[in-house]
Amino acid sequence: MIQRNAASRPGRSVETRRLGPEEVEAAAAILRAGGLVAIPTETVYGLAADARQGQAVARVFEAKGRPRFNPLIVHVADAEAAFALGRAGEDARRLAAAFWPGPLTLLLPLREGSGLSDLVSAGTGHVGLRVPAHPVAGALLRAVGGPLAAPSANPSGRISATSAEHALAGLGGRIEAVLDGGPCAVGVESSIVALAGHEARLLRPGGVPQEALEAALGRPLARGGGGFAAPGQMASHYAPRGAVRLDATEPRPGERMLGFGPVDGDLTLSPSGDLREAAANLFAALHALDALGGPIAVAPIPDRGLGRAIRDRLARAAAPRPEAKGS
Ligand code: TXA
Ligand code: MG
Repeated sequence: MIQRNAASRPGRSVETRRLGPEEVEAAAAILRAGGLVAIPTETVYGLAADARQGQAVARVFEAKGRPRFNPLIVHVADAEAAFALGRAGEDARRLAAAFWPGPLTLLLPLREGSGLSDLVSAGTGHVGLRVPAHPVAGALLRAVGGPLAAPSANPSGRISATSAEHALAGLGGRIEAVLDGGPCAVGVESSIVALAGHEARLLRPGGVPQEALEAALGRPLARGGGGFAAPGQMASHYAPRGAVRLDATEPRPGERMLGFGPVDGDLTLSPSGDLREAAANLFAALHALDALGGPIAVAPIPDRGLGRAIRDRLARAAAPRPEAKGS
């Protein structure tokens, strides 16, 4: 399937190839040549570039329409490859042992001579590292044999992609290929934990619940930005075109209802109130309601486990929308 999107980049449209999960080698060849490929991970699809090629990384920002150079998460095949790029202490090793491969990003002090493009850490002195659990992502990382920088594969500020179709709809015509690995099992982005000195700070709730992170660390996580620049943590993000209203028990006239548990809707995140199921369905449901247009009301989601990541994404989808959008 070829998709063109000439309107968004007049005269500079590229053909976007759709690759099957067995075409990992073709995807690796595109990445080595400095091209962009949307890739499956267990959380959401990522828009990948070779993290060592500055021009390829710069194109990621251009393709997403990102207003500025936010730092990007670097994906690697295993913890050893991660700790060659960022300096790991005991906390990092403990969290990596417990949750990698998996939906956890560790923000570590960047090692000198890492070989990463400066755009990846955007002058923060830290690098975000993740070992994804998706088998196709793992095979691709081994085939490329190096780090891949990948933000979520959605146009800046819009709803994240949890299928190859979402990634094609958002970025078709701007990237060389989409590698189809099926729908994402987790469905919300990775939890981001920043480690510096003796501090461990949760910068973004995500696919590993805070309770599980704290159990592995043996102490509570600090919350909030702290001294970390997290320019992607802007209030408005994941935005459908229509307004979003949270903690609604029934729709107002004209609203589409997104249900959960006992609160029924036009669509429901999980009829049984299962937070894992709800996370996996979240972005596909927002895409579907966005396609119908109009305002969206969302049922209450409990503030525990994966519910925290779901509530975080919904709050950003509901936030007032400034000019500059997030990642
Ligand atoms: O699950 C995920 O994390 C997905 C998949 C593709 O891996 N990726 C993802 O990337 O959500 P992105 O760019 O949409 O969100 C990453 C967030 C951004 O808010 C960015 O600002 C922050 O992580 N970040 C990355 N590296 C950072 C750094 N060195 N310092 C501060 N913040 C950083
Ligand atoms: Mg994102």
